[in-house]
Amino acid sequence: MRDVAVIGVGMNKWGEIWKAAIRDLLAESVLLALDDAGIDSVEAMYIGCMSSGLFAGQEHLGSMGPDYSGMCPVPGIRVESACASGGAAFRSAYMHVASGMADIVMAAGVEKMTDVDGGGATFALATAADQEYEVYNGVTFPGLYALMANHHMNKYGTTRDQLAQVAVKNHINGSKNPLAQFRMKVSLDQVKNSVMVSDPLTLLDCSPITDGSAAVILCSMEKAKEITKKRMVKIIGSGHASDTIQLAQRDDLSSLKSTAIAAKQALDMAGKKITDIDFAEVHDCFTIAEIMVIEALGIAEKGKGGKVTVDGVTAFDGKFPVNASGGLKSKGHPVGATGVAQIVELTKQIRGEADDGRQLKKADIGLAQNMGGSGASSVVHILEGM
Ligand code: COA
Repeated sequence: MRDVAVIGVGMNKWGEIWKAAIRDLLAESVLLALDDAGIDSVEAMYIGCMSSGLFAGQEHLGSMGPDYSGMCPVPGIRVESACASGGAAFRSAYMHVASGMADIVMAAGVEKMTDVDGGGATFALATAADQEYEVYNGVTFPGLYALMANHHMNKYGTTRDQLAQVAVKNHINGSKNPLAQFRMKVSLDQVKNSVMVSDPLTLLDCSPITDGSAAVILCSMEKAKEITKKRMVKIIGSGHASDTIQLAQRDDLSSLKSTAIAAKQALDMAGKKITDIDFAEVHDCFTIAEIMVIEALGIAEKGKGGKVTVDGVTAFDGKFPVNASGGLKSKGHPVGATGVAQIVELTKQIRGEADDGRQLKKADIGLAQNMGGSGASSVVHILEGM
């Protein structure tokens, strides 16, 4: 396998974007990434997208991506792994370059979610769960994560305030991100008193419905040295694992086994321990998810994710900053784009190019964790500045 670097990143402003179609969203980030890399085409494109058919009535993104970014006949492939589609697209592009098949490959991600109403969005998202055994019986994604939250609270004594603190922290970070969907800060009381979605998760415990895209360009290290004048960002670890699609089939409802396994693969490949990592972008689709993810990654001991959050360990100026971008909670969660946007954030932080007030003091090694469904698939990457 060859060494691979990230040489270009792009992301549009996320939110409810009525004036742009899915093709425009995708093309915007693709062109931003090409511009950032200083090149005008790539050899192949991987496009992470969960459900453009149900959300926007559009399939065949493998063609739409190259077409609307002016890159035909470059081959495109859509990658789907529910909310982990973006991370899986990045891993596919990484393997493509590492194998020696191509020198420069793009990983993009997109989702246009607001063209359907709330019921339509809930239905489309629920297709990432087990249709026959979970969805048929009335389960929604907020419902699945509420089950995990209740289990975690009963088993470890995790409190309502600890869950809410994840939202408070991520909205503080997102308030400084000009590309974030929700830039307002929220208080513990606002989170706890916002409208109940699925007990104990309220509106402000949930990631929103978002339109958005992101794109990154991967390049063999040898070629990257010729192309980029920016700090080299090397992909040093990659891991990918699955778990049962049904929550009820798991040994433990409040553990994310796929994340723990993918993280171990990525850390072993990088020759690092979690304590060697400076910061992380993780999949906080609901506040309880961030607590369970930081436990699976080993940032917090099992059952202590809530306490660690309240103690400020994962805050922007904490010992291990998590979701300096605002995370899914504040930045938004256009599901297929999320995993790619995490790589955009890691790259910007490592290059020292994060927005004013959002640049971490120490950002040499970053970890991105992206997951699908209730943790049925997880992808973890580790990037290091050279
Ligand atoms: N965080 C903060 N504010 C939010 C929000 C969120 N997650 N979701 C909606 N809002 C705001 C809206 O901007 C709107 O504000 P306004 O009245 O000032 O305009 C208000 O809350 C109501 O928005 P609306 O779109 O009517 O909310 P909704 O009830 O249709 O949807 C949720 C709210 C939480 C049900 C929806 O965002 C959701 O399903 N989230 C989870 C997404 C998900 O499961 N993703 C996959 C994870 S694996």
